Amino acid sequence: MDKQKLIDNLNQDLAGELSAIIQYITYAAKTTGPYRPQLAAFFLQEVADEQMHAQFLANKIVALGGEPVTIPAPVPKASTNREMLEAVLAAELQAGKDYTERASQADEFGDKGLVVALEDMVRDETGHSEETERMLRDWPV
Ligand SMILES: [Fe+2]
Ligand SMILES: [Fe+2]
Repeated sequence: MDKQKLIDNLNQDLAGELSAIIQYITYAAKTTGPYRPQLAAFFLQEVADEQMHAQFLANKIVALGGEPVTIPAPVPKASTNREMLEAVLAAELQAGKDYTERASQADEFGDKGLVVALEDMVRDETGHSEETERMLRDWPV
């Protein structure tokens, strides 16, 4: 794994985290109905984790000699609570897959600290996707 390729991939991950922050803030604002208080709180609580991931990635990209991106990946459009939860589930599953792949690339590159940090992020994203999947399991509408 060449250093520039690793920086480019980490920048893709950073664009994803910036998108996740915007996605959660936007969905928290848009959620409606009797579950709005819980859903808004749930979405907003995720922002803190995604912000930590974004900060870590930006710092690591600079440490490796790269320039962190400032443009987020597009946020998926969603109207209903269910569509928002489904979009969140898809994004969290994708993030888990991406960080699993990135951890093996970091291992190939020879940066053990980055491997460990990315594996921690796999754990965080897995927690997010499992929580969202359980909410969707008995979703009433
Ligand atoms: Fe994240
Ligand atoms: Fe997440």
